[in-house]
Formats: sequence, structure tokens, C-alpha cells
Amino acid sequence: MTLSEVENVSGYVGNFKVKVRRHARYVNEAECTACGDCATVCPVLKVDEYQAGMATRKGIYIPFPQAIPAAYVINMKDCLGNNPIACNKCVEKCEKKCISLDMKDEIVELNVGSIIVATGMDVYDPTALDEYGYTRFANVVTSLEFERLISAGGPTGGHFVRPGDGKEPKRIGFIQCVGSRTQNRGNPYCSNICCMNTIKDSLLLMEHYPDTEINVFYIDIRAFGKGFEDLYNRSKQMGVKYIRGIPGEITEDAKTGNLQLKVENTTTGIIEDYELDMVVLSIGLEPPKDGDKLRHLLTLSKTSDGFLAERHPKLMPVDTATRGIFLAGCAEAPKDIKDSVTQASAAAARAEIILKANQIKLDAAKAVVDPSKCTMCELCVKVCPYGAITASREKKKPAEVIEAMCAGCGSCAAECAFGAISIRHFDDDEYLSQIESALAENPQYKILAFACNWCSYAASDLTGSSRLQYPPSVRLIRTMCSARVNEKFVLQAFKSGAPIVLVSGCHYADCHYNGANRATQRRIDRLWDRLERLGIRPERLQLEWMSAAEGQRFAKVMAELEEMRLKVTPEEIEQTKKTIAEQESKKKKPAASAA
Ligand code: FES
Repeated sequence: MTLSEVENVSGYVGNFKVKVRRHARYVNEAECTACGDCATVCPVLKVDEYQAGMATRKGIYIPFPQAIPAAYVINMKDCLGNNPIACNKCVEKCEKKCISLDMKDEIVELNVGSIIVATGMDVYDPTALDEYGYTRFANVVTSLEFERLISAGGPTGGHFVRPGDGKEPKRIGFIQCVGSRTQNRGNPYCSNICCMNTIKDSLLLMEHYPDTEINVFYIDIRAFGKGFEDLYNRSKQMGVKYIRGIPGEITEDAKTGNLQLKVENTTTGIIEDYELDMVVLSIGLEPPKDGDKLRHLLTLSKTSDGFLAERHPKLMPVDTATRGIFLAGCAEAPKDIKDSVTQASAAAARAEIILKANQIKLDAAKAVVDPSKCTMCELCVKVCPYGAITASREKKKPAEVIEAMCAGCGSCAAECAFGAISIRHFDDDEYLSQIESALAENPQYKILAFACNWCSYAASDLTGSSRLQYPPSVRLIRTMCSARVNEKFVLQAFKSGAPIVLVSGCHYADCHYNGANRATQRRIDRLWDRLERLGIRPERLQLEWMSAAEGQRFAKVMAELEEMRLKVTPEEIEQTKKTIAEQESKKKKPAASAA
């Protein structure tokens, strides 16, 4: 369904309901023969987005040569008007009578079992990097514009000329990592494809214009894929010069339009000057600008770089945290065609498994509601990152869990102040008895740490398998997500004599349950306030985010906690126990008198 937009998604694995808006094409795609007569009479000229703004198109057009379907489309924002009809030339010209300016958007409702998100990426806009003069100098172009300039289907019909004066450039410079691998101006990650794209472009140029002088300015050349190193070596053999260093600034000779740049060659330590006819900025990739809308519709999470998060980077690289939804291509991270195709095949296979089965297996660890305790406050509905809980105070409808949607993070159970919702196999009583047994003997020597299964618990494992030392005073309690940690667990730990309590989970954007750890942060903030009000030092409750790969950090954090533990006096512990016990009895009293 081209020219279509997903407007709403509801339901769950095996049973998604998707509402799609099919935008009006104003051309009957089944009838259109793409003869182009309509475009010849269209008086509207607009910037051609596909040619990176270096050519124009008509108001009725085929977006790009390989577009499917191969049928014309009218962009109504460009058209002189259909209400009332202002021009109508295309309609009159079309012999097949397949243009209708009265077409309307159509809403289609689909019932699907699985969803694959393959929404691609955007490219970095180098306008902000003023030192390269992208908007000031005509002969500074992006790698995308360069692709169009060298393409046979491009604005110059494949005759490679520079945009400033239409001359054939003889000296070309490629600047790598524009908008990538930078902390402040652009994105911190490597965009994965730019090195090989430049190598490919340099080979293309050398094959078609062998007397061109090509200089590539780079930080590192990342030629890591199959056959990539060969291509890199081939381009060097063909005369492409690779200079390790990124130019600071480009200036232009106003008369000739030539570009001057200075660069420190970090291999030789020498400052080199270059005069070039054209500079190509090898721009990085970015998540789609409007990607968040779809992400919210699908209840997906994103990683710190803004791309969609996979369920597990190694073991479930095409699955998402929402069951039944899979990722392919650059929606998940910058990648080249081969990796995109591989991932797409994997995603299709994963999706097919669901479609082929008549039933799905669910983990037993799901939220369970005791309707007799539910006050219909709807807090669980608000904190569920999957929208798996329904409840309505207005309709007097206690909380209900859609098991197929629930991922078992436990955020709802941690939020419920009435004990009405629990997680099967991870219920409050189980945690409370773990806390009690961990602190049964000599609690003053213990640090109680709640560790998220996916990150900090795995990090502790890595610490052990890497033979790193961490203090023996640490007692770990595994939770599936840090969001499972109920405030009462922490208070119970202090009441049982713990000097220090740690809640640890995945880095903020890496939570495996669609950002459930945001609720963890809120709860810990609330707890810190509460401890302060009770006269208990809030520092005794620590919150740490770490990843499964941070074994060393885990050991370091534990060592720091041990230092903190040594500073907590037995008197302070006793006072804390007393304060919490008093608080609890105060709470119980009104309940008892009410009874
Ligand atoms: Fe680790 Fe949520 S899964 S904090």
C-alpha cells in the first residue's frame, strides 16, 4: 500500500488492528500507463525532492523512476487547485481518463497477526556545520547530491559536472564522518555505510573519469564487511588518496568557485593545503524525523541513538519488546543493503512463525489482578508500557490484563498501592521473603541490590566470569525489570537492617520493557523524598543504570557502595528500623479503628 500512512494500531500479537489512511493519488493507478502526457501539460514546476533539489518536477509526476506502482500522482499541495478546479489540463489531456481531482483519502482497516517495521532513515543535514559552507558554496555537496550528479538518471543525465558552473571537476575531496562520531554537532554513533559509500563513489569516478584526483579525508576507514577491504585496496591502487585528518574549514575562491581547505594529516603530523574543484560531505544517517509517532502507536522503545530498540542485540536482533512486531533495515540502526536484506529476511521468517501457528506460547510471568482489591484507580493502566491493562473507574470496571500483551515487567505491580495486581512467579511475598532471608543474619554487613535481569544482573555475571572482585557484602535480588521494585521492598530492606539498598537497571533508553524504567526513576525520586521526610539519609538508597557489558562498572559501583556501607553506623540502622516500624504501625492503626 503505497502513499499510505498508519494512523492507529491496537491489539496484540496475532491480532493487531491497523488503521491505514490511503492518500488520494488523483490518478487511477490500475489504468495509468505512465505515458507522461499529463506532465507535459502541467504548468506547475516544483523542486524535485528525488533529485536532491537539483532539478524540477511537475505538479503531476512519478516520484522516482523505479516507483511502484509506475503511475503518476498529483501532490495536491502543488496543484493549482481542485476545489474549485483551477487548471484541469492534466485531466483533459489524459486519453485513458484515469485522472480524477475528486478522489478522496480512503481509510482501510486491517487485521494482521504480525507487523514488520521497515521505515528506513533520514540523512544528516550539514547546514549546521557552517565551517564547510554547505549552504554558502555551490560546489560543496552532500554524498546524496553527489549520487544524483553521477547517476545516469540524475539531473545532468549522468554527465558529471559541478553545480556552481557546470564544469567537469578534476579535483574532488570527500570529507568523511560529517554528522557522525561527534559528541556535540551531529550524532555520536558511526553511520556504518559512509566509508564504503565513498569508496564505491571513488571507484565509480575513477572508472568513468580516470584523470580525476580524489582525496578522501577520514578519521578511520571502516571497511569491515565481506569484500570491503578489497574494494578499499582497489580504490587506493586506482589512485585515490586517503588522508587521515578532517579539515577544519572550507573557503571559496569567489572568482573560480574553487575550494580551499587545510587539514592536519595525523599520519605525518603535517598541515596540508588543498585546492579542490568540488567537496563531497559524506553525511551520516539519522532516525526518521517523524519516527516517534509510529513508535508510540506500536509501543516500541528506542535506543539512545534514537533508532528503534531490538528485543536483544544478540539473541533477538529483529524482535522488539512488543511481541509480534519485528524490525528490518535502518529503522533499527544504520546499515547497508546487504544487512538490511538479511534482517528483512529474518524479520519475515519470524513474522511467518506467528502467522503459521494457530496458537502462541506465552511466558507464565504475567500480571494477575485480584479484582476484590482493585480500587479502579487506573494507575496500573498509566504505567503499563504496553497498554496491556484496562480499567475504568467511571464504568466501575476493575483492572483487567490482556495476557498476550503483557510482557511481565512488573511496573503495574510496583505501582499498585493496594496489592491488587501481582506478577505470577514474581509476586510481592516472594520478594519480601527473599529480602528477609538475605538480611536474616548480620544485616549491618550487607548491601541489598535489586538487579534487573537484562542488564545489571547480567553485568554481575560478567563480573564473576571475568574474575573481577566485588565486595562479598553484596546480596543480589533479581527482578525482570527495575520497574518491578516496589517501594515497600526498599522500606522492608531498611526495616530488616540493610545499611545500603541499590536499585539497578538498564541504561535509560535500553530498558527491555519499552522504557518501563522511567517509572523506576519516578518511584526512586518519590522514595528519596519520603526517606528524607522520615529522617533517613536518602543516599542510603542508590539508583544505578548499567548494561550487561559493564562488568567492570558493576564491580566499581559495588566497591563504592561498600565504602558507603562502612559509614552507616549501627545506631543509624537501628533508628531507621524504628522509624519505619513506627510508620507502619501508624498506617495500620487507622485501618484497625475503621474496622
Ligand atoms: Fe532493565 Fe527495564 S529491563 S530496567
